[in-house]
Amino acid sequence: MDKIGISGNKILITGGATGIGFAIAKAFHDLGNELLICGRRESKLQEAAVKLPGIKILKCDISKKEDRRMLYDFVDSEFGGINILVNNAGIQRPIDFRKGEEDLLSNGDEIEINLKAQISLAAHFIPILINRENSAIINISSGLGFVPLARFPIYSATKAAIHSFSMSLRKQLEGTNLKIFEVIPPTVYDTELKGKPLDKTDWMVSASEVSSAVIDGIRNGEYEIAIGPAKKWSKSSREELDKFFNDVNH
Ligand SMILES: NC(=O)c1ccc[n+]([C@@H]2O[C@H](COP(=O)([O-])OP(=O)(O)OC[C@H]3O[C@@H](n4cnc5c(N)ncnc54)[C@H](OP(=O)(O)O)[C@@H]3O)[C@@H](O)[C@H]2O)c1
Repeated sequence: MDKIGISGNKILITGGATGIGFAIAKAFHDLGNELLICGRRESKLQEAAVKLPGIKILKCDISKKEDRRMLYDFVDSEFGGINILVNNAGIQRPIDFRKGEEDLLSNGDEIEINLKAQISLAAHFIPILINRENSAIINISSGLGFVPLARFPIYSATKAAIHSFSMSLRKQLEGTNLKIFEVIPPTVYDTELKGKPLDKTDWMVSASEVSSAVIDGIRNGEYEIAIGPAKKWSKSSREELDKFFNDVNH
């Protein structure tokens, strides 16, 4: 199998200013890659730019069509194109369906951000990346795509969809230059996904453990990069998944 080189690339990381996205940006930065990160908060982007000198930043809400258009223009005119896209930006919301539609879209639309935007970015970049050397799309899914947490029903569903989408893309692009990776983290304790960092437990990992696994996975030509307990979840039988589901949702 052709392996993707991990230095000298031009990489776009959505949501690259914080958490897992920032850890991946730092790992690639340390390895001598050119980086463009985007996100909605200018302050976080500026902080990241101070920590990673030389990176480019763009304030952009990937769930908005006009912002995505601006991002594509920026990639061409200010960044000189990319050969790696890291589809990382995401949000997670608890949703109680007993409250009906009121709770559904009250605090951001996970389907728009976690799923539709990632699909749109893929649709835009695939025809370009397919003709580039050493090209890759790295989709960040989640262990919850395999074992849903009922408290986060839409989030879990978007991550299951990202897993399915990554498999289909990989099949469609077989034999081309463009490689499709999926990163499957378990709970990561030191990011902003849940608003504040979590108290670390045995089944959690850090954002830098995820970024190290990403670099190792790319080096080893491993298309599904599952980390910690997500390794077991992503390879389990339906019976085992039912057991994990009952354990995490008791
Ligand atoms: N933390 C975990 O336990 C865990 C586990 C498995 C998978 N993941 C996945 O890992 C990815 C990164 O999450 P994280 O844990 O690192 O959380 P995080 O620190 O909150 O990172 C999410 C990033 O996405 C950006 N973002 C959110 N909505 C956006 C939008 N509409 N447009 C552009 N950027 C947007 C955020 O910046 P702005 O708010 O400034 O836009 C933020 O920088 C997500 O896809 C998440 O689902 C996380």
